[in-house]
Amino acid sequence: MAQEESPEYDVLIVGGGGAGLRAAIAAYETNPNLKIAVISKVYPMRSHTVSAEGGAAAVIKPDDSLDDHCYDTISGADWMCDQDAVESFVNEAPNELLQLEHWGCPWSREADGSVAVRPFGGMKIKRTWYASDKTGFHMLHTLFQTSLKYDPIQRYDEWFVTKLLVEDGRCQGVVAIELATGRIEPILAKSVILSTGGCGKIFPFTTNANIKNGDGMSLAYRAGIPLKDMEFIQYHPTGLPFTGILITEASRAEGGHLLNKDGYRYLQDYDLGKPEPKPVLRSMELGPRDRLSQAFVKEQERGGTMAGEYGHYVHLDLRHLGEKIIDSRLPFVRELCAKYENIDPVTDLIPVRPVVHYMMGGISTDIDAATVLPGVYSAGEAACVSINGANRLGSNSLTEILVFGARAGKNAAAFALEQKEASSGLQAQVEDERNRLAKLMLGEGTESIAGLRKEMHDTMEEGAGIYRTRDSLAASGQKVRELQERVVNVKVSDASHTFNTDLTAAIELTYMLDGAEAIIASALLRDESRGSHQRSDFPERDDDKFLQHSLAYREPGGSPRIEYQPVSITRWPPAKREYGQQKG
Ligand code: FUM
Repeated sequence: MAQEESPEYDVLIVGGGGAGLRAAIAAYETNPNLKIAVISKVYPMRSHTVSAEGGAAAVIKPDDSLDDHCYDTISGADWMCDQDAVESFVNEAPNELLQLEHWGCPWSREADGSVAVRPFGGMKIKRTWYASDKTGFHMLHTLFQTSLKYDPIQRYDEWFVTKLLVEDGRCQGVVAIELATGRIEPILAKSVILSTGGCGKIFPFTTNANIKNGDGMSLAYRAGIPLKDMEFIQYHPTGLPFTGILITEASRAEGGHLLNKDGYRYLQDYDLGKPEPKPVLRSMELGPRDRLSQAFVKEQERGGTMAGEYGHYVHLDLRHLGEKIIDSRLPFVRELCAKYENIDPVTDLIPVRPVVHYMMGGISTDIDAATVLPGVYSAGEAACVSINGANRLGSNSLTEILVFGARAGKNAAAFALEQKEASSGLQAQVEDERNRLAKLMLGEGTESIAGLRKEMHDTMEEGAGIYRTRDSLAASGQKVRELQERVVNVKVSDASHTFNTDLTAAIELTYMLDGAEAIIASALLRDESRGSHQRSDFPERDDDKFLQHSLAYREPGGSPRIEYQPVSITRWPPAKREYGQQKG
């Protein structure tokens, strides 16, 4: 192709959140002569990392150890994570957080000036670093301002990627729409990092921003890269009803209680320990998220929750913490409650319900963030390395974006340095993609975007929620396949070339349907209960058959095919997960 007309980079990063920016910096640090670009459908500071609240885990205190962090992560994951990956993650975590401090991240401090840590769910030692309850904002800001120091890191803000360009057995760039003008352009690169976040918007109630549609997952899946462990979906126990806005786990770490309709701390009835005067680690409200969300469903079934306009809910009680603690440690919680619920947690109970928060699964990568397609790397929530297994522990993901963002940047840079120029056969693919998008914009379809999205939400909530069965999954699987067939005929009503959100919503819907299909196909075949994947018809964990990662491949007709890959077990043999006041 006429390469002088197309920008060509060594490393192109799709997604400008924490993982993407960390990757960009690492690529620059690997070789400052590389041409690096970050392309994002939103301005980087609007990436979803900005809304992370509670903190980032890494061993820093003398009473903690790397092995303890490993064990908490592995048991929290119900042994589904790769233990070699977890060890690398835990070992590299402290330096990554210290590096962020040196770049200017304002970690909260103890009275003696050392970095402060707070407890977090499922961790037996306090190891979550935080910056008040706006940790994601401060981390993203730090990474963004650091990336601005390096001229070779160029940016394509508000460019929307629609395709990976694959030729000669390797990825050589992307096709993207410049949202401000509607131009559809190839951006060539010797390596591409997908760091586009998760796909929580497949579900109706989620903490996730509207941008989290699984774009990168679907781009990879369509290019032949498998999606790993998609059946494992994390519900966060404390989202606001209706908006799904996150009320951080830090609220419970600071001593908040979950109360049923009678004001009773119902978690004591669900194998999570008994109430104590002070919060006990790995106990009650500091249990892991999968167990707390499952306890909510059981409590609802026994009539202990309250029915509201947006589903059942319970109460989070922070009143006993007092205004001083709330204002110093949880100011954002107070702000969110005021703005979105018109309540004040200093005096009022907060209504909360489990909401979809995080994908443990994602683009299958190895420990170096590489995928099976040469030239494609992935990091952050978009990826599945895997360190989160069947249930991620809160505060591991902000650290994960740093550790594996850095690994992705370094390895993608090394790969790029070994590659020759772009192939000559890309122009035809670019033209095909332009034609596909032009056809979509003719507006000749008849299916409504909002209508299909609502049907997807309903069936995912109904069939693939906190508890699933073979029948519920099979019914949702059939429905999603039907939606896949109908989405081909989706109507884009807006013909504008300027910020055509109708067009991007239609494409995002197709991305979400790919993710939904992979979730259901993987969940349907996993006849066991493990972590966040609870099959009412198979209530036990089955290590003999299912201590394996699922890999969803896209078949030529579009349906998923599931294969399996062994979980890497090194030093921690599978054991029973125990919470409450148990140690270990
Ligand atoms: O509750 C929270 O602050 C969420 C943290 C996380 O998902 O890691």
